[in-house]
Amino acid sequence: MMIIDTLKKQYTDGIDTINRASFSHPWSKALIEQDIDNPNCFYAVGVEENEVIGYAGMTVIAGEANITNIATHPDRRREGIGKKLLSQLIDICKENDFLLITLEVRRSNIAAVALYESLGFKIEGERKKYYSDNGEDALIMTMSF
Ligand SMILES: CC(C)(COP(=O)(O)OP(=O)(O)OC[C@H]1O[C@@H](n2cnc3c(N)ncnc32)[C@H](O)[C@@H]1OP(=O)(O)O)[C@@H](O)C(=O)NCCC(=O)NCCS
Repeated sequence: MMIIDTLKKQYTDGIDTINRASFSHPWSKALIEQDIDNPNCFYAVGVEENEVIGYAGMTVIAGEANITNIATHPDRRREGIGKKLLSQLIDICKENDFLLITLEVRRSNIAAVALYESLGFKIEGERKKYYSDNGEDALIMTMSF
């Protein structure tokens, strides 16, 4: 059974493995480690039998949360893990009276857009050629409370 924990040093290797398997330009492990002691960063780490199976992270500035990363281990997708982790971040926003959650997502990332829409995020706008690696547009999605 999956438990959801906050970001801890012991999880950074597992997160790094998932990032490398999930992103063409993954965050470095050092970047993730920096978030451990950052009071503006909130993570939901999905752990099963001491293994990280997914995680989601957000940074909050002036009551506005930005989802910085979310990924599920490639072997464990479509089991509802991403949805549970993102729901946990949404709950944290509600508990802390944060006003808004925003995120950017590649237009071609059908899975992520569907996940966000399934939780009530709306497409608010787009940033043309936002991703420098392939010139892809970003969709800006938001949820306000
Ligand atoms: C996006 C991602 C995090 C989704 O994680 P997941 O754990 O597989 O998602 P869930 O199982 O919780 O899916 C929840 C809902 O999202 C939608 N969804 C998820 N994956 C989908 C896919 N491949 N195609 C269509 N819809 C999808 C569905 O509505 C799904 O509900 P359902 O399974 O009941 O139909 C995962 O695909 C991933 O890690 N991708 C690579 C990293 C990435 O692109 N992250 C986002 C950008 S930062």
